[in-house]
Amino acid sequence: METELIRIGQGEECLAWEEEALRRAGEIIKGGGLVAFPTETVYGLGGDALNGESSRKIYAAKGRPSDNPLIVHISRLEDMGRIVERIPGEAVKLAESFWPGPLTMILPKSREVPYETTGGLDTVAVRMPSHPVARRLIAYSGGYVAAPSANASGRPSPTIAAHVIEDMSGRIDMIVDGGEVGIGLESTIVDLTVSPPQILRPGYITEELLKGVLGQVETDRAILQTDSGQAPRAPGMKYRHYAPRGELAIVEGGREQVTAWINRQVQADHAAGWKTGIITTREQQGLYRADVVKCVGSRQDEEGIARNLYLVLREFDQEKVDRIYSEGFGDGKLGSAIMNRLLKAAGHRIVSVQYPIKSEI
Ligand code: TXA
Ligand code: MG
Repeated sequence: METELIRIGQGEECLAWEEEALRRAGEIIKGGGLVAFPTETVYGLGGDALNGESSRKIYAAKGRPSDNPLIVHISRLEDMGRIVERIPGEAVKLAESFWPGPLTMILPKSREVPYETTGGLDTVAVRMPSHPVARRLIAYSGGYVAAPSANASGRPSPTIAAHVIEDMSGRIDMIVDGGEVGIGLESTIVDLTVSPPQILRPGYITEELLKGVLGQVETDRAILQTDSGQAPRAPGMKYRHYAPRGELAIVEGGREQVTAWINRQVQADHAAGWKTGIITTREQQGLYRADVVKCVGSRQDEEGIARNLYLVLREFDQEKVDRIYSEGFGDGKLGSAIMNRLLKAAGHRIVSVQYPIKSEI
């Protein structure tokens, strides 16, 4: 299959030819085809959410297990009623506060949503993105676009169109390049079918913000613990994901201990013939002696770290790094979202070096 690439500016104003191109992209989705497009979180791989055959194509293009449900994207609040059984007051409150934006709600599905889209579940994930290109495309596609992140299953989510081209070229009908995304981590997922509501995936809309609107909110314990032995409730969270090809470990502890530990490990890896890489921050960048040292930004700028994380993970693949060590980024309001993605990328390998190092590691 030949994949068409179109480039769209990011402003609210759309040029006539851009509008026309998005209209055509919408026709492709309506006709059962697949189009990748930018959202404010990550690039999505869109198909008609009400067409089971389209959802099957999405799973095939990503190489994704078909028990891992898709998020249905809408562009108008009034379109929600058709795909859910009922709209609880909590959903209305959340929509008023955070839509359009990086929040996904889980609700009981209506009959109109095929089981292919929900991975066999009786619930459906709904999100109204804020990205102007996404909103136009959804409207032109008939209003309901199923869209997982537009990466091949298991790879980091795409934050620029080049990542989508890397993973999806030849597998889908069209890629809409709208430049770099704003947030860089996938939406927060909150399950409203349980009481109290539960966060199944942390994101830009934090637990604190949700509590401000809903009062009580819990976070699925399984997603943040290093090894809880419990399966996370969002099916997608159980897979190793966002993964670079090299082996990644997160190293936590006092700054000096962490850099010392990593440098010793790098030395041992070099002796064993491995190519090494580091994920670090501007503040500590100069302290490492690995083959490839990647900076995700300043420790003070969490939003920058969130935006750069997937980009950096992909760069290690390009440089064919075998062993990667990352500092932990657990502080701050986005800390749990960033650490959740990093833990998954690392297959939950985490090293704690709280104490002065002994002679052997
Ligand atoms: O920011 C985002 O949400 C991006 C952009 C494209 O909108 N989309 C995204 O989709 O991250 P995806 O498919 O990569 O991740 C969806 C997650 C998966 O972990 C899936 O298991 C979970 O949402 N999910 C979807 N429907 C669900 C449901 N009914 N119950 C529980 N989890 C669900
Ligand atoms: Mg994904």
